[in-house]
Amino acid sequence: MNIEKRWIAAAAAAAPVLLNACVYAEESKSVHNAATTIPAEDRISPIYGVIIPDRYREWELVAVSYQTAFDEFRAILGNPLAVQAYRAGTLPFPDGAILAKRAWKRVPSTEFPGAFVPGAATTLQIMVKDSTKYAASGGWGFGRFIDGKPVDEAQHRTCFACHEARVRAHDFVFTRYAP
Ligand code: HEC
Repeated sequence: MNIEKRWIAAAAAAAPVLLNACVYAEESKSVHNAATTIPAEDRISPIYGVIIPDRYREWELVAVSYQTAFDEFRAILGNPLAVQAYRAGTLPFPDGAILAKRAWKRVPSTEFPGAFVPGAATTLQIMVKDSTKYAASGGWGFGRFIDGKPVDEAQHRTCFACHEARVRAHDFVFTRYAP
């Protein structure tokens, strides 16, 4: 079954829950990614009710990063609203802005010594700006996903605390627009 057909099948089964979950995520009218086969109610992050936004892989690159503790490459992508805000230097980010942080294990290239390439994808983390809905967490809703499924509530309790402690002055966002 191709991706579109799979999506249609999943949408038919999941429409009511999905519609409800998508109100705040402008580009989440459909979900065609690895999560498509996971029941809609199992795709929503605890506490915040964030889902993986549709077509986030097509978003523009904001920056890359590297984490020694996990030995992971990361790429931070923004939806069009978020990228516009970065370009204009707008803070706080406007409602509807969404940031996605992809992460992969760093593995040596088999084709060229000294080069490293992305290995297995590890986590996908999402921040959705909605200053009303998420007033208690700086206007951001958080979601951390592994293989399309949100991680547990305990992990979601840590998100805002760390972002708040370190980057409150930058609307709780670490990533700067890469030069
Ligand atoms: C202990 C600190 C810490 C915790 C806890 C944490 N983050 Fe972050 N987060 C960071 C740092 C540092 C960056 C930027 C560096 C990078 O890309 O890894 C970041 C970046 C991000 C980004 C890219 C936008 C930005 O702020 O730069 C998203 C999205 C994100 N985190 C989501 C989450 C989610 C969802 C959780 C909870 C499940 C979470 N974070 C928990 C430290 C944290």
